[in-house]
Parts: sequence; structure tokens; C-alpha cells
Amino acid sequence: MTIEDLNTGLLNRREFNGICTTLGSSLLTIGGIALSGASPLDAATSSASAARTVKFRDGTVVPAIGQGSWHLGEEKRPAASEEEALRTGLSLGMTLIDTALVYAGGRSEELIGRVIAGQRDRVFLVSKVPPDRATKDDIARACETSLARLGTDHLDLYLLHWRAHANLSVTVTSFEDLRLAGKIRAWGVSNFSVKDMEELFRIPRGDRCATNQVLYNIGERSIERDLLPWCQQQKMPVMAYSPLGGPGASLLRDPTLARIGAAHGCSAAAVALAWTIRSGNVIAIPESGSAAHVKENAVALSLTLTPEDLQTLDAAHPPPG
Ligand SMILES: NC(=O)c1ccc[n+]([C@@H]2O[C@H](COP(=O)([O-])OP(=O)(O)OC[C@H]3O[C@@H](n4cnc5c(N)ncnc54)[C@H](OP(=O)(O)O)[C@@H]3O)[C@@H](O)[C@H]2O)c1
Repeated sequence: MTIEDLNTGLLNRREFNGICTTLGSSLLTIGGIALSGASPLDAATSSASAARTVKFRDGTVVPAIGQGSWHLGEEKRPAASEEEALRTGLSLGMTLIDTALVYAGGRSEELIGRVIAGQRDRVFLVSKVPPDRATKDDIARACETSLARLGTDHLDLYLLHWRAHANLSVTVTSFEDLRLAGKIRAWGVSNFSVKDMEELFRIPRGDRCATNQVLYNIGERSIERDLLPWCQQQKMPVMAYSPLGGPGASLLRDPTLARIGAAHGCSAAAVALAWTIRSGNVIAIPESGSAAHVKENAVALSLTLTPEDLQTLDAAHPPPG
């Protein structure tokens, strides 16, 4: 079994369990990101340690399931519970964390800062700048604010949160300046249409964009019509937000997902996530402030849906015509 096998996501659950048993409590390190093959986990969670990965065009490898944070830090739950949920995800291999300058008025980034303190090197950290801050000086100030809240000296990926009226030439130059200054390792965009992406790629150095983070789940497949094939043509991974249907996780009440989950001995959430990352070119970033939910979600890292499962899911949730 080679690292290439891991990178292409070719392990089935049995093979991966075998690796976890072999490695015991040691860490599996892929592309600089440590993926935990943690030891005292029950069968479900040990198989959920990271097997599926996605490679960015610069060669950086990240787990195909990360962790969102839009509503973390809003005091819906005790902060300690939300921090425990994120730490649980990290220990199970969900080492990519997505946040944004504006989430919970900054408290999401602060909460993540507490979680990653002492283990920054294990985490692939993504934050976002809103378009009204995407002017040359302001983007640098916004980045410094995020870095201070997160307690780090660099972001692994910095995204323009949405398009609005951002001047893309200025945005690209500012992102590249931050990259050359070592404040960010890579940059990308979010909520961009194919038209926006084409405009971006016409700008000098615009094709250095690492990803486009967009809405994608089994109930909302419209990017399959044009954006997903466009990104696949550029060999650019897509980050799927709201992979469980968004706040409230409405998709998880879907009987087809539940039935397929029961057949695999896992939750509907794991099925929804495994479906989202099935191509090997999509990173899903479910959000949860519950450690129990995070454990269910991590199972998707090693869940392989069968061709019959995919057919059944297509019948229940047809691709866009
Ligand atoms: N770029 C953008 O414009 C943009 C827009 C939206 C979102 N995002 C990013 O994407 C992340 C995820 O998207 P999202 O928050 O909209 O939606 P989501 O991840 O599809 O769903 C989040 C909801 O699912 C629940 N949940 C998670 N795992 C569960 C499980 N195993 N069983 C039952 N419920 C579960 C969560 O509640 P519990 O906390 O109770 O588990 C929460 O209510 C955000 O946090 C954010 O980082 C980006």
C-alpha cells in the first residue's frame, strides 16, 4: 500500500482499518498534514480516520472532509462543547478547518484559535475576506485581524468570500502580495460562477486561484451543470459548503440517505458526505458543534458508496438536466 493509493482515495474501509491496526496510535502524515490513525477508537470511528484526500494544483494534499464554523462561537452551545467537537474532528483526520472574518462577528476565528493552539502544524486553515475589504491595504488589515484571532502567522488558504463588486485585478495582486509576504500559502474564491472564473483567469496570475468554495450537496446539484466540469477541466478542486443541506441539516431527514446509511452501518450524514466527495475533486466542509455528530461525519472519510448506492441516490435526487 503506497501513499499514492492513499492520495487517490483508493482504500476501502477494510483496508484502511488494517492500516490503522498496523499503525496503532502513530500518525499518518500526507503532504505535511498529519492525519490521525488514533488508537482507542471504536470500529466506526477508527474506520473514519483519514483515507480520502484531495490534492490542490500546487501538490498540497488535504483530507476530503474538513470542518466548517459559520455558526460556531455564537453561544448556541457552551464554547467548550464546540471546541471539543472541532478537536474531535482533528483527531479523526478532519484537519481542514474553514472559517471567515465575518463568522459570529469574529468569535468563530477566536474559538478556532483556542482549538488549534499547540497543534497549528496539523491544521490546514482556511479563512475568507469579504469583498468590501478586498482593497489593497484593507485586505492586508483584514488578514492581520484573522491571523491575530486565530493565533497564527499564516493561513493555508485565503478566499474572497463572494464576488459582489470586488475589483478582481486588485484582489489578485493583494492576494499575491500576501502570499509573497508569507501571510498566506494560497488563495482562492467563493461563490464564483463560471463567468466570474473565466474573468478571473483572464487577469494576470488569476489562474493561481486554488479553489472555488460553493454550495453543493445531494439536494442542490446545480454546479454539476457547468461549474464543476469547468473546475475539473482546470484540475482545480472545489470546496462544497452546506454539504448536509445547511443550518438544520434538512437533508438528513431524507429516507434514501437513511436507508443507504443503515445498509453500511453508518448515519445518513456520512452517506451525504461520501456522496459529495465521490469524485475525488471535492472537499466537503460540514459544520458541527457536537462531538457525536462530528464522529458520524468522519466516517465519510472511509465510506465507499457502491455503484448501486449512487444509482439509487441519482434516482432520488436527479442531476440537473
Ligand atoms: N463560502 C460561503 O459563502 C459559505 C456559505 C455557507 C457555509 N459555508 C461554510 O460551510 C460550512 C458548512 O455549511 P453549513 O453550516 O451551511 O451547513 P452544513 O454543514 O450542511 O450543516 C450544518 C448543520 O448540520 C448539523 N449537523 C452536522 N453534522 C450532523 C450530523 N452528523 N447529524 C445531524 N446534524 C448534523 C449541524 O448541527 P450540529 O452543530 O448540531 O451538529 C448544523 O445545523 C459552514 O460552517 C461554513 O464554514 C461557507
